[in-house]
Amino acid sequence: MSSLEMNKIAAAILVGGILTLGVGIVSNAIYNPERRAHEGAGGEEGGAAPAPAAAPVAVEPISKLLASADPAKGEAIAKKCMTCHTFEKGGPNKVGPDLWGVIGRQAGSHEGFAYSDAIKAVGKPWTYEMINHFIANPKQYAPGTKMTFPGLPKAEDRANVIAFIRTKADSPAPLPSDADIQAAEDQYKKDQEAAAKPAAEAPKPEANAAAPATGGGEASGFQPSLSMIAAADPAKGEAISKKCLTCHTFAKGGPNKIGPDLWSVIGRQAGSHEGFAYSDAIKKLGKPWDFESLDHFIYSPKDFAPGTKMTFAGLKKPEERAALLRWLRDQNDNPPELPK
Ligand code: HEC
Ligand code: HEC
Repeated sequence: MSSLEMNKIAAAILVGGILTLGVGIVSNAIYNPERRAHEGAGGEEGGAAPAPAAAPVAVEPISKLLASADPAKGEAIAKKCMTCHTFEKGGPNKVGPDLWGVIGRQAGSHEGFAYSDAIKAVGKPWTYEMINHFIANPKQYAPGTKMTFPGLPKAEDRANVIAFIRTKADSPAPLPSDADIQAAEDQYKKDQEAAAKPAAEAPKPEANAAAPATGGGEASGFQPSLSMIAAADPAKGEAISKKCLTCHTFAKGGPNKIGPDLWSVIGRQAGSHEGFAYSDAIKKLGKPWDFESLDHFIYSPKDFAPGTKMTFAGLKKPEERAALLRWLRDQNDNPPELPK
């Protein structure tokens, strides 16, 4: 294969990665349909590229409202959900899964229900705020979800519904703490800021796609390691991981250092380790880490997530990344399936 062809393939993969990233960002920034309609923005955000004219508006948090929310009002509103969901212990799945105990339950995990990949990819247990974002606008939060429900635009309605859902559990989850409420408010502020300048923050696929043609730039050097991971030697990977230890631990319950602890990072939502102050660049990724995104990130952190605080030049050799990812895969409560 000529090196030009290799470059084209590398560029295609890179652009693919960026598009995936774009979708993540879009699904992360929740759009307010009323405001969008008002501003006359057209089109759907479910696709690859966000329209620059769209005016995304962050979803108002409900953590603060929950303590004073009214479960009885919520039950009345939840009649809308009952077309598709039951809320009883051991209740049947209907069009949607039974929602008894859904707060704190792993997304996409109710027995016997065939979830979309969109919900399975959420990759972590439902929190109050995740449900809040999801029911505000399901297809923006989880593009490709089978839940064909337009969403509840009013924060008050969502708070009441969630207060009702909270009672539908063996033991209701604790109400959000002051710290949780603060975190939700802070996140809201950041989402609003990000929403205010989506075009400036979005990655520039054109620039990266152009790089291979000129023969320069890091994009042209990227070779995916995915197909090499299954056969790679975890012991070699462990040796390579020493480079990461300056900043990271890889132990279950290990402390955050300069970077977050990386136990179970594959499958974990990017930017979600408790107690670590991530850059917006990582939080914006908006989905769980998988082999592919890690392959790109570790190749060149600053290209994959411009603005990241991870000041690590990157591992340029695909064999090294393959070995590292093979080893990293085992540092996990639920080691994910190896890529073929
Ligand atoms: C038209 C049918 C429909 C309506 C109405 C509906 N849902 Fe759903 N819901 C679904 C389907 C289908 C899924 C599975 C989604 C998937 O796999 O993509 C789902 C999934 C969910 C999940 C994720 C459950 C899990 O186990 O991960 C939650 C939470 C949820 N719905 C809450 C609600 C709430 C709250 C309402 C009312 C405000 C509601 N839904 C209204 C069909 C519906
Ligand atoms: C010089 C310090 C440093 C080194 C060396 C380093 N990292 Fe990081 N890493 C960080 C910081 C800081 C962050 C948080 C980035 C942010 O918020 O922008 C991070 C974030 C990450 C994340 C995202 C975690 C999450 O919870 O979303 C992964 C994955 C990661 N690093 C993997 C690695 C691997 C693998 C290596 C070794 C090949 C490595 N890092 C080397 C500092 C470092």
